[in-house]
Amino acid sequence: MSAELKRRAAAAALDFVEPGMKLGLGTGSTADEFVRLLAARVAAGLEVIGVPTSERTAALAGSLGIRLATLEEEPALDLTVDGADEIGPGLALVKGGGGALLREKIVAAASTRMVVIADASKVVDPLGAFPLPIEVNAFGLGSTRLKIVAAATALGLAGDLVLRTKADGTPYLTDGGHLILDASFRRIPDPQSLARALVEIPGVVEHGLFLGLATAAVVAHADRIEILHP
Ligand code: A5P
Repeated sequence: MSAELKRRAAAAALDFVEPGMKLGLGTGSTADEFVRLLAARVAAGLEVIGVPTSERTAALAGSLGIRLATLEEEPALDLTVDGADEIGPGLALVKGGGGALLREKIVAAASTRMVVIADASKVVDPLGAFPLPIEVNAFGLGSTRLKIVAAATALGLAGDLVLRTKADGTPYLTDGGHLILDASFRRIPDPQSLARALVEIPGVVEHGLFLGLATAAVVAHADRIEILHP
């Protein structure tokens, strides 16, 4: 059911796509559905340019015949379509479950609009049940971890901070070569304050709170599609 809902959200997001658009292409299972459906439109004659948010999405979109570009070639995009791990009040998002948060945020910020696609299980209030991905530089990991804990504690947040690993137990590396700490705060009632505190920590490369970026969310319920606005 969940896969079908993801596909339906992705299909509804095609309504936002117009010929000639420069599109940010998200990462994750829901974004993959969008890429597949977009590729079918491209095969039928739609002309768009896609900027992928990960090597994974680049490989999929490229293999399906979508014309790709980098942000150096196309620095300003019309629309990004991407999934999310959580959609909270005001379309505040938690992203990065798939590890692509840094490129996803750069691409979303380069876009005039960002449409989030998700099944209804992703809509929450407050954010935080899904562990917040925090991308960090490997240098100084121990110190960065302490700073994150201190910043969270100052905001009344507590929870495990777990280094993400691969199936073989070695550290997961992002496309940018960084590490990810997954922070299980359980509740993030004030995402703005947490985001501000995290970006002040030198070893933090980026965090998975996407605030003020999403312009709409296409949410698939069992019986309907709902469009949310900030
Ligand atoms: C990738 O880094 C994430 O931000 C994804 O957008 C997010 O994890 C949603 O993925 P699914 O669509 O697979 O749930």
